[in-house]
Amino acid sequence: MAGSAMNIDLSNAQFTRDESGRPFIIVRDQGKKTRVHGAEAVKQHIFAARQVSNIVKTSLGPRGLDKILISPDGDITVTNDGATILGQMEIKDNIAQLLVSLSQSQDAEIGDGTTGVVVLAGALLEQAAELIDKGIHPIRIADGYDTACEIAVAELDQISDSIAFSKTDNANLFKVAKTSLGSKIVSKAHDHFAQIAVDAVLSVADLERKDVDFELIKVDGKVGGALEDTLLVKGVIVDKDFSHPQMPNEVKDAKLAILTCAFEPPKPKTKHKLDITSVAEYKALQKYEASKFEEMIRQIKDTGANVVICQWGFDDEANHLLLTNDLPAVRWVGGPEIELIAIATNGRIVPRFEDLSAAKLGKAGIVREMSFGTTREKMLVIEECANSRAVTVFVRGSNKMIIDEAKRSLHDALCVVRNLVKDSRIVYGGGAAEIACSLAVERASLETRGLEQYAMRAFGEALDAVPMALAENSGLSPIETLAELKGRQGRGEGVGVLGVDCMQTGSNDMREHFVIDPLISKRQQLLLATQLCRMVLKINNVIVAGAGDGDY
Ligand SMILES: Nc1ncnc2c1ncn2[C@@H]1O[C@H](COP(=O)(O)OP(=O)(O)OP(=O)(O)O)[C@@H](O)[C@H]1O
Ligand SMILES: [Mg+2]
Repeated sequence: MAGSAMNIDLSNAQFTRDESGRPFIIVRDQGKKTRVHGAEAVKQHIFAARQVSNIVKTSLGPRGLDKILISPDGDITVTNDGATILGQMEIKDNIAQLLVSLSQSQDAEIGDGTTGVVVLAGALLEQAAELIDKGIHPIRIADGYDTACEIAVAELDQISDSIAFSKTDNANLFKVAKTSLGSKIVSKAHDHFAQIAVDAVLSVADLERKDVDFELIKVDGKVGGALEDTLLVKGVIVDKDFSHPQMPNEVKDAKLAILTCAFEPPKPKTKHKLDITSVAEYKALQKYEASKFEEMIRQIKDTGANVVICQWGFDDEANHLLLTNDLPAVRWVGGPEIELIAIATNGRIVPRFEDLSAAKLGKAGIVREMSFGTTREKMLVIEECANSRAVTVFVRGSNKMIIDEAKRSLHDALCVVRNLVKDSRIVYGGGAAEIACSLAVERASLETRGLEQYAMRAFGEALDAVPMALAENSGLSPIETLAELKGRQGRGEGVGVLGVDCMQTGSNDMREHFVIDPLISKRQQLLLATQLCRMVLKINNVIVAGAGDGDY
C-alpha cells in the first residue's frame, strides 16, 4: 500500500502542526508548470481528441445510439445530440475541449450536424498522427488539409441540388426535417414533429428576405401525454389559467391589459399601524377596500379591456369581485411570458396603474383555456394575435428527459428548415456527399507535387470516416460498404447520390429516400473541422499553469 498510493514528490514537503498539536505535512507543488514539446505534444493531443470523437461516433446516423449523461448532482440527460453529449461530459484534456467548442460552433451556426463534425475532425486528426509518424511536418499537413478542404467544398457545390418550396408547397421541407429527426428519440413521431418544424418556421419566415426570426418561435413543454400530442399553437401558451374557475374559459376578440403593477384592493400592510376599535369601523374599512377595487376594475373596463394579465397576485376577495364584474384575469404570470404576450399581441406592458390607456391594450382573436385529457391541468392559449407571427410549440412526453430530448431534436429540425429557407441548396446524406468529396480530393492529390499530396490523400481518407461510421452503426460491414459505394461513385455512377443504406431499404440511392442535408451544413462541417485541425497541428507546446504532472 505504502508508496503506491502516495505518488507525490516529497522533496518539497514541509512538516508542521495544527493549532491542537496534530502533525501534518504540506506538500508544495502548486504553481508548478508542466509542458510537453514538439511532435510528441501534437500526438498526445491527437490521442485525447480521438478518444472524444470515438465516444460520439456511435451516435451518428439514424441507427446511432443515444447516450445517458449523469451530472455530478445526479441529473440525468438522455441525448443523441453531439453538442449536448460533449457539453455535458467533463473533459479534462485541453485539446479535447476544443472538440467540444467545435461541436458547439456547429450548433450555434447551423444547429444540426454536431456529431458529424466531431467525427470528421477526429478522423482528420488521426490521419495527421500517421503522417507525423512518417516525418511530415505538422504545418505541411495543415497546408495540405487546407487545399483539400477547398477542393472538397468546391465538389459539394458541384454535386449540390436545389429544392423547391413555397409557403403552401412545403413537401420538400417536410422531407428534410424528417431526415434530421430520423436519428432522434422522436423518430416514432417524426412525421408529426417534422410537420410542426416546417409549419413553425414557415409561419415566422420572411421568404422574400430569406430570413427567419427564431425569437418568435417558443418551445415549451409539459410532462404528460405522449410525443404525438405535441402541438403547434399560432400564438402564445402560458402555463396559467383564469384566476377563478367560474370565469368564462374563452374570450373572443380579446383586449388585454398587461399589468406589472399590483392589482388588488388597498390593503393595510403589516408595517402600517391601523387602529380599529369597533365592528362598524372594520366593516367600513372592508367596504372602502371593495369600493376602491371596484373603481380599479371600472378603470380597466373603461379602456375597453376584457382580459387582465397580471404579474402579481390578488386574493380571493379580489378574485370574487373580478368575477362578479365580468373581468376575467390571470395572475402570477412570469416576466418572460408577460413580454412574450406583449410582443405577440402588440400591447404595452403597464408598470403603473395610472398609465393604463386604450392604446396600450394588446389584441388577440381568442384567449382560451386548454385542458389536457382527463387531468384538471389547464393552460392559457392566446391565439390570432395582432402580431400574428409568434408561434409556440408545446411538447408533450411521458417524462422530463424525453421532453428535453424532444426539444433538442425539434431544435435541430427547426434549424434545418431555417437553413433551407436561407439557402435552398442541398446535398445527399448517408455519406454520399462525403464519398464524392473524398474521391475528388484523392483525384486532385494525384496531380499535386510535393508533400502536400500525402496530406490531401489523408484528408480524403478521413472523409470516409463518416460513411464508415454510419455503416458500422447500422450493423453493416464498414469497409465492404465503403468499398462498394466508392467503387460505384468512382465509376461515375450516382456521384454524390449513393450513400449508406442505414435503414436496409435495399437501395443506396439517397435521392430516392430523400435523405438530404442542407449544403451550408455540410460545408460548415468541412470548414470547421479543417480549421480545428490546423489549430491543433500548429500547437507544439502546452503550458498548464498550476497543474501537477500528467494533468494536462
Ligand atoms: N435514412 C438515412 N439513411 C442514411 N443516412 C442517414 C439517414 N438519415 C440520416 N442519415 C445521415 O446521418 C447523419 C446525421 O446523423 P445525426 O443526426 O445523428 O448526426 P448529426 O446531424 O451530425 O448531429 P446532431 O444531429 O447530433 O447535431 C447524416 O450524415 C445523414 O446524412
Ligand atoms: Mg442530425
